[in-house]
Amino acid sequence: MTASIKERLVSLVHDAARAVAGDDFDVATLPIGRPKDASHGDASIPCFPLAKAAGQAPPVAAKAFAEQLVELAKAKDGILTTAEAVGPFVNVRYERAALAEDVVRGVLEHREPFGQWKPNNTRVVIDYSSPNIAKPFHFGHLRSTVIGAALRRIYKHTGHTVFGINHLGDWGSQFGKILVAFEEWGDHEALHRDPMRHLYEIYVRFKRESDADPSLNERAAEAFRRLESGEDNAERRRWQELRDISLEAFQGPYGRLAAEFEAITGESFYEDKIESTLAQLKDAGITTVSEGALVVEVDGMPPCILVKSDGTTIYATRDLAALYYRRATYEFDKALYVVGAEQKLHFRQLKEVIAKLGWKEADGIEHIDFGLVLTFDPEQKRWTKFSTRGGNAIFLDEVLDEAVAKARTIIDEKNPDLADKDAVAEAIGVGAIVFNDLKNTRIKDVKFDWDELLSFEGETGPYVQYAGARLSSILRKAGSNDAADSIPKDIAWSALHDAERVLTTMLDFGSVLERCVDKNEPYILTSFVTSLASEIHSYLREHHVLSAEPEVKAARLLLVRAARDLIREGLALLGVASPEEM
Ligand code: ARG
Repeated sequence: MTASIKERLVSLVHDAARAVAGDDFDVATLPIGRPKDASHGDASIPCFPLAKAAGQAPPVAAKAFAEQLVELAKAKDGILTTAEAVGPFVNVRYERAALAEDVVRGVLEHREPFGQWKPNNTRVVIDYSSPNIAKPFHFGHLRSTVIGAALRRIYKHTGHTVFGINHLGDWGSQFGKILVAFEEWGDHEALHRDPMRHLYEIYVRFKRESDADPSLNERAAEAFRRLESGEDNAERRRWQELRDISLEAFQGPYGRLAAEFEAITGESFYEDKIESTLAQLKDAGITTVSEGALVVEVDGMPPCILVKSDGTTIYATRDLAALYYRRATYEFDKALYVVGAEQKLHFRQLKEVIAKLGWKEADGIEHIDFGLVLTFDPEQKRWTKFSTRGGNAIFLDEVLDEAVAKARTIIDEKNPDLADKDAVAEAIGVGAIVFNDLKNTRIKDVKFDWDELLSFEGETGPYVQYAGARLSSILRKAGSNDAADSIPKDIAWSALHDAERVLTTMLDFGSVLERCVDKNEPYILTSFVTSLASEIHSYLREHHVLSAEPEVKAARLLLVRAARDLIREGLALLGVASPEEM
């Protein structure tokens, strides 16, 4: 395969740098970025390390470097039209036809970085979503699901070996309460009709009634003991039934949100691994007994409790068992936990315990935290936590349904003749929620504003989806063939000389994904698709496709196809569908 335009630039940059600073110069220290102002060029190289090695002032070195680049481009590889020193920077401009062909072919032929990257050797476990079953799927889990699913896809696309894991909250003393509640007030018909609501109702009722009747709590404790005994008894069978039904109910939202897992290993999965985990921790000599509890002391933090003084284990114990299991099973280099910021201490403790064990994997353990979901309260006139509505839990499927219904109303107004309105409304409604969740740095609270997130203007899912649909519509009108092997031989790539903004934006896709992985931040990709949508809209404002001269039209149609495909690809990585029409 021929080298990409970026690889060719890198090779010219390295040769020119060695010519200026000598053969021993470490070319890897020269980063290639983009100029702040796109009108200054397509790529920009800061010359500080080069100047240092050459023993010159940066602007002097930059000048010599730019001259070398121009010479080399003339002699060796004509991909550059200009290389200009501006202070300590050198800005370069790609030859237009080469840029156009490289980007358009790259996208349409699924070459790296647009298509799947070749495998690297990094193994990544991503623990995400992980709701507590038998409780409503709350907004924290929506965020974890959406962020985790996007990261899982981005890591996969960039060649990592990824294990997406749902660490279901399916164990703990609250299950004793649910078992008793179900015995008292459970109704099989209601359970099968709407498992999450029914379990939530009886759980709330248990809380209310146990205030008046403490014997319920004693029964719950006894039920949990019988469950924990590991025997095949009535409690175990009922627990299994409720767990299976809940998990099945989650599949609806998971399908709509495009969340997939390599493994669903909840907290209960570690029940039979707790003993060996505790034995290994004790053998390592890092445990102590404090006030009757077995703990690991950690610097500057409260101790990490393993076994409480009443002999029961906790959330942290199961997370440690999970780390032993995941190390042995997945041999991970990175273990990411996509969990709300309120669990910061828990994950700091966990990482510190692993560091005390001396595992080389400790550095790769990272808490991927995120902020809250806020909604505007018109009475208090401020943004408040979106967790309950008038004391009632909000169910995720209701929120998704509401988004879809609102999208449907918008479609009825804007495009009443559209075919398959329901499917398009689903794509727009759910896509709007996902996009809204991912459009800022994770730690920022998400403002949940229906009008804004469903708007066709601004940084929104519908705005980007609409750009894609507009491109598809041009392609349909042109009767364009969508197969990648339909790139004709005689394309006049130079006809795309005026599409440089679109093309250089697209060229950035690889470094955008690298940054997403580096910082575990999907918003970098959300901004990318928004910019691409906006660049292609401006391009189409000034350039006609269908009415252009045949040669120009053919080239522009390819650009339209490539931009449409890359918008789709970016949205798909984020978990947002791309309707053909909207
Ligand atoms: N079920 C937990 C909760 O809802 C989140 C679990 C996160 N993952 C983990 N390995 N601790 O708070």
